[in-house]
Amino acid sequence: TPRVFSGAQPSGNMHLGNYLGAFKNWGKLQDDYECLYCVVDLHAITVWQDPARLAAQTREAAAAYIAAGVDPERAILFNQSRVAGHAELSWMFNCVARIGWLNRMTQFKDKAGKNREKVSVGLYVYPTLMAADILLYKGTHVPVGEDQKQHLELTQDIAQKFNHDFGREVFPIVEPIITGEATRVMSLRDGTKKMSKSEPSDMTRINLTDDADTIAQKFRKARTDAEPLPETADGLDDRAEARNLVNIYAALADLPVAEVLGQFAGKGFKDFKDALVDVAVAHLSPVTGEMARLMGDPATLDAILDRGAEKAAALAEPVLDEVKETIGLLGAGRRG
Ligand code: TYM
Repeated sequence: TPRVFSGAQPSGNMHLGNYLGAFKNWGKLQDDYECLYCVVDLHAITVWQDPARLAAQTREAAAAYIAAGVDPERAILFNQSRVAGHAELSWMFNCVARIGWLNRMTQFKDKAGKNREKVSVGLYVYPTLMAADILLYKGTHVPVGEDQKQHLELTQDIAQKFNHDFGREVFPIVEPIITGEATRVMSLRDGTKKMSKSEPSDMTRINLTDDADTIAQKFRKARTDAEPLPETADGLDDRAEARNLVNIYAALADLPVAEVLGQFAGKGFKDFKDALVDVAVAHLSPVTGEMARLMGDPATLDAILDRGAEKAAALAEPVLDEVKETIGLLGAGRRG
């Protein structure tokens, strides 16, 4: 049976890239699939997280999912550390994945930078935990932003090698769902860098907690060029900042890029940014408002996460038993 799994790290500063690349697409999938949406707190701690803030950040991520359209009555919404199977299966996958595969991960290279010897071991094996997240539920479809494509290819490689090594079709081969007009949202200050939670300057991103004035100010100060908007998308080649703003507009207005350019061709960025601010505020303020409302009631969020963890654990149990049995680990299926 098809099953959707996706997640985001509760590392603070949920932003427009997370929203357009991921959360915004999650709600629709609930009509056609069984969906699990997970707040991946074990992934977040691969880099230092302030213990006094991690719980609040976890609730904030859950609130962002719901505000963007995840329905806790229809989807399973939970935080990763509550279901022990994620960590268990990731260990088994550490024994399936090859060091050479992990050495090719561009996200690790970017995050570690020159500091390769000093980052946590967890950061290095981040992708095997991600594979475990999905395959613990035999997930088949994974809606993510473009930057996760390589991690999903690794997930496919792990499933394939596991099935091959043990001679059984235990795991499905996952299919990435990378949709929308803004699958890779860039920094507002530098069109060659991805919009990111960890970028020190807040002016580079729109946070999902920003109010209307802040959104307006950030877009007005966003870097662009002096040319007017082109008639067709190829006129945005070599204009990374301009392309980014057009993609953001298209995604927020739910229009194809061609139609946005049809509307604004020949106009300058001053006019375009005014329209962009209007669309962004109109689209995001209900999301922001709903997030704030939900975060004002942590007990309700905790109850939602409790129930989600219970349902997720029930789905994970038979899969983990099957995996242990396949590997030959004694006592698969016995509890306690
Ligand atoms: P995270 O928290 O870094 O990102 C969460 C989601 O947001 C997308 N995203 C973006 N999309 C477009 N433009 C951007 N600038 C941008 N920045 C982030 C990401 O692609 C992602 O979909 N490793 C995952 C979390 C994870 C996961 C999983 C996802 C852990 N286990 C299993 C799917 C399935 C991540 O990058 O989170």
